[in-house]
Amino acid sequence: MTTDQLQAHFDTKIEADISIEAKDWMPDAYRQNLIRQIGQHAHSEVVGMLPEANWITRAPTLRRKAVLLAKVQDEAGHGLYLYSAAETLGCTRQDIYQKLLDGTMKYSSIFNYPTLSWADIGVIGWLVDGAAIVNQVALCRASYGPYARAMVKICKEESFHQRQGYEAVMALSKGNKAQRDMLQDAINRFWWPTLMMFGPNDSDSPNSAQSMAWKIKRFSNDELRQKFIDNTVPQLEALGMTAPDPELVWDETTGHYHFGEINWDEFYQVLKGQGICNYERLEAKRRAWDNGKWVREAASVHAKKIAARKQAA
Ligand SMILES: [Fe+2]
Ligand SMILES: [Fe+2]
Repeated sequence: MTTDQLQAHFDTKIEADISIEAKDWMPDAYRQNLIRQIGQHAHSEVVGMLPEANWITRAPTLRRKAVLLAKVQDEAGHGLYLYSAAETLGCTRQDIYQKLLDGTMKYSSIFNYPTLSWADIGVIGWLVDGAAIVNQVALCRASYGPYARAMVKICKEESFHQRQGYEAVMALSKGNKAQRDMLQDAINRFWWPTLMMFGPNDSDSPNSAQSMAWKIKRFSNDELRQKFIDNTVPQLEALGMTAPDPELVWDETTGHYHFGEINWDEFYQVLKGQGICNYERLEAKRRAWDNGKWVREAASVHAKKIAARKQAA
């Protein structure tokens, strides 16, 4: 088939909602776009382990510690599914991981904010994993099969993450004044960065239109952000807490919550590497990579020995 025929066949499949699989022909731009998106997503899962791991040793009870450990381990698993999904597109895990360490590939900026109190851990589960679910549920129908299928599994675990977070913030909201203040402070710090997780406004997001045409993205950034706010404000009210947004109000005419302007300067600053923890996060990943060198070497020698033994037999 000629390239034009292959392209036409690809377009017909996208049009008919037939998923694209690893061995199917696909335009190079589609492949590269997916490697970037899935790679960044994988990096976000593993970098996202760091702010929460910070509190494993200080969880207030054994039960909280066990739950948090399970959640942080899940995030490592999500990274694994996603690196594997990226590899089906022809890149190697080592290559894209190296790009994370070099700073040439990004991860979600939300993880460049510090976790200062125990309440932050509950708020991350509730808000950050809650926002991730809104994004990821939509990705379960992404046109690339291996990505969509990884999302189905991930979403089941994200739902546990969101619930454990909400259960932890609920306990704090019923606690004493110091606990409620700690919770309100965590909400104040994480509210706006969580809204930024959906990316720039649609009018400033030129790549989104192409992703939507390819059906990788099914909803725009602004649609997903609005959906998250509409889901979350009633939960916030049930806790008896407030958002740091004086403009947040139910709009009868649109049937949605109206919210204030996001500080996009802050978003771009953090993206450029000037967030509070950008340096610390990458340093932690680089250190872990260097410390794991002997493990990688031992594993590769072992694999070579097994291959040689098989050849000899
Ligand atoms: Fe995750
Ligand atoms: Fe999660």
